[in-house]
Amino acid sequence: MPPKVMFVCLGNICRSPTAEGVFRGLAAQAGLDVVIDSSGTSGWHNGDLPDKRAMAEAKSRGYDLSMQRSTQLKSQDFYDFYLIVCMDNSNIENSESLRPDGANAQVKLFLDYAPNQPLREVPDPYYEHNFEAVFDLIEDASRGLIASLQST
Ligand code: 4NP
Repeated sequence: MPPKVMFVCLGNICRSPTAEGVFRGLAAQAGLDVVIDSSGTSGWHNGDLPDKRAMAEAKSRGYDLSMQRSTQLKSQDFYDFYLIVCMDNSNIENSESLRPDGANAQVKLFLDYAPNQPLREVPDPYYEHNFEAVFDLIEDASRGLIASLQST
């Protein structure tokens, strides 16, 4: 069975759909068999398309986010996924509060897979409008996560 990876942010319209789309593209290029999903801790945008700015930046880099719709992280995901990869520390805290007793998913900070980056959290482009910089971080961390999964 391929490993299952869930990317998590707050709204599931900017950072985690970007991570899902970028990681899907780069994992396919690397020939890595992995199941990929994304969700948000808030549920505020359930059913929404990714942010237009994220979709435009994705398209310019050869990724397609248009099949994605926002969903909310749920307790069952802690049984179903091997890795829950969070964009920032508040996502980790909010995710862990949903963990059922005995569920084994590992919760990680995405930029732990990009140790050469000065940042430890992926900044929220919804407010900061820095989509290019966020995509650069996400591409770097995706490559690191692919290398990590290939070595296990
Ligand atoms: P995301 O960005 O967590 O990267 O999807 C946000 C999207 C929407 C909101 C906040 C962050 N919001 O407040 O609606």
